[in-house]
Amino acid sequence: MLLENTKDLAYAAGRILRERFYTDLTIEYKGEIDLVTDADKAAEKLLVTAITNAFPEHAVLAEEGGKIGKQDANFLWVIDPLDGTTNYAHGFPYFSVSIALLENDNPIIGVVYNPISDEMFAAKSGCGAWLNDQSIRVSKIAQLKKSLLCTGFPYDMQQPNNNIERYGKMVKQTQGVLRVGSAALDLCQVACGRLDGFWECLLNPWDIAAGALIVQEAGGTVTGITTPVFDLYKGEILASNGLVHADMIKQLRD
Ligand code: IPD
Ligand code: CA
Ligand code: CA
Repeated sequence: MLLENTKDLAYAAGRILRERFYTDLTIEYKGEIDLVTDADKAAEKLLVTAITNAFPEHAVLAEEGGKIGKQDANFLWVIDPLDGTTNYAHGFPYFSVSIALLENDNPIIGVVYNPISDEMFAAKSGCGAWLNDQSIRVSKIAQLKKSLLCTGFPYDMQQPNNNIERYGKMVKQTQGVLRVGSAALDLCQVACGRLDGFWECLLNPWDIAAGALIVQEAGGTVTGITTPVFDLYKGEILASNGLVHADMIKQLRD
């Protein structure tokens, strides 16, 4: 039931993004490249209002508004109302709404919705992962040289950990490394087997909380890049079909 309700929230927020996608957007800049649109704000408002009304005991961590609710709440909703803002602002139809629910720090529900392709990715811990009600599994590609990977880059490319060196190394070892621009959705492409692996660093919890659960529930592996255990708050993630994971780690850590 909770999963269905969460999907309904993502559909509603996605509707806002879709409607505004085809109109003139008001764009504000948080940094030189990091931007926010009126659509991010409207979608987040809808989600946060619905969640705090339905679950007043739960806390919420959302990109634009930060953390609200009791610090010691057992349940935390982690929300990116629009993941892929740069794509959105340029009219490139690849972006998503990402919603995760954590119970005592463990993700129990993850939902990522692309309102343009109308693809709803969802997972419930211990129960599996789905794309529009079809069960999904990661790919079976076992060799890096046969794999298609994906990555992302931080807004601030001046800082040293900007992923360029790792990208250069990995692109020579694979059939390609895409940069599509929505970490939440990129993780879902790994979950449903279209891509074999994804890595990125300097991310925020709302970029990856839902997608990481969806990959795990689809049979994939999720770790850090420099650490063997995935930590939502460390900013780095390596997600794969499991079969190319060790080789990806080797290349990324070397
Ligand atoms: C961004 C996207 C992008 C990733 C950036 C994120 P935003 O989130 O997930 O794919 O490369 O690091 O910040 O700003 O579009 O919500
Ligand atoms: Ca994001
Ligand atoms: Ca965002």
